[in-house]
Amino acid sequence: MVFKGIKGILIYTAIVLFISVVYFIYAYTVYPPTPERETFLSEIGEGFGEIGLWALCFIYARTFLKIVMGKGAIAKRILPDYSPPASASYFHQLLGFLNRTHVYVGIATVAVILLHIALMGVPMDILFFPAVLGLVIWQGLFGMFLTWRYSPKELKKLSYLVHAQLFTGIMIGVFSYFGHLLIDN
Ligand code: HEM
Repeated sequence: MVFKGIKGILIYTAIVLFISVVYFIYAYTVYPPTPERETFLSEIGEGFGEIGLWALCFIYARTFLKIVMGKGAIAKRILPDYSPPASASYFHQLLGFLNRTHVYVGIATVAVILLHIALMGVPMDILFFPAVLGLVIWQGLFGMFLTWRYSPKELKKLSYLVHAQLFTGIMIGVFSYFGHLLIDN
């Protein structure tokens, strides 16, 4: 089941990549190159961008760890005598830490990425950027509904569905990568 899920994610990633490459070629030929600005604010903005990237890595390390540990559970079912390697308890602790800190890291990530976009003066006519902006706000919004204890049950269910999956993450990663390729040239 894990592999079926991973196959779906890989196919989805390939489709997002394909669409992005097509749009990249279009945008590359249509929009004039954006000159790099070296203002005081944009220097600070670059720093925020780097922090945002690390924060996203931190968030998706948890997802990765969950997938890997899910495999462990499957191994347990196939092999009745299977006992998780000693390192599993260390991973368990690490996952617990990542789970406990996710809400704070999540809020910080949204804030840092918004600051990065605001300080850099990103060209919004290149569609990669409004898309990333929208997706980050989307993650933050549904993450909040998920955490907020007064959210109605149905809203919580929907929020989990749209927040706790990899599809938005893949788009955020691919779109930001190609967006930055357009700006750096
Ligand atoms: C860019 C920002 C964010 C990203 C990329 C993100 C990503 C994720 C992902 C991938 C999951 C699924 C769990 C996993 O397998 O890793 C998740 C779960 C969750 N997120 Fe976020 N998140 C973000 C921001 C937030 C914010 C701002 C909040 C709350 C204010 C939040 C609250 C939650 C909650 C409550 C869960 C479900 C419980 C859990 O699995 O621990 N997230 N998030």
